[in-house]
Amino acid sequence: MKNKEFTTKISISAIEECNNETKNLIKKAQEATQRAYAPYSRYQVGAAVLLSNGEIITGNNQENASYPAGICAERTALSYANATYPGIPIIAIAIAAYHNGSFTQDVCSPCGICRQYLIEVENRYNNAIKVIMCSGNEVYEVTSAKALLPLSFDKKNLEG
Ligand code: THU
Repeated sequence: MKNKEFTTKISISAIEECNNETKNLIKKAQEATQRAYAPYSRYQVGAAVLLSNGEIITGNNQENASYPAGICAERTALSYANATYPGIPIIAIAIAAYHNGSFTQDVCSPCGICRQYLIEVENRYNNAIKVIMCSGNEVYEVTSAKALLPLSFDKKNLEG
């Protein structure tokens, strides 16, 4: 029998320690939480996507009475960015969540479907996306969405 191990390096810092570009992206994600449509969970997620041309696109969760029809903040922002700037790589995404009157204590990390979606965007542009996951005061950063989804399924599987 053989074993395979995966390790994930996560950089953890206080928001104040982040550089200005990251702080700005976090602020935009936090602001986007306030425009979320989350009447069912009351868990308001905001995402801010940074493109290589400097443009920032934001999105938030859009829930639905038929729960599975709702869409996460990350995919809202990524879809809008790709639909508006189809040739421009995405280089970073910040994610924040607001619940019960404040930004969450725990960092907001992307759900499984959003991880899969992020990896598709990385592969599309052959460019790693920095994922910046925020709580009210702390930030977890990984340099690529692939770090969050080992053994992910992608177009190579379809070709094999
Ligand atoms: N949600 C997101 O928008 N992004 C995530 O990565 C995690 C979950 C949303 C979906 C739903 O509207 C609410 O948070 C509660 O699950």
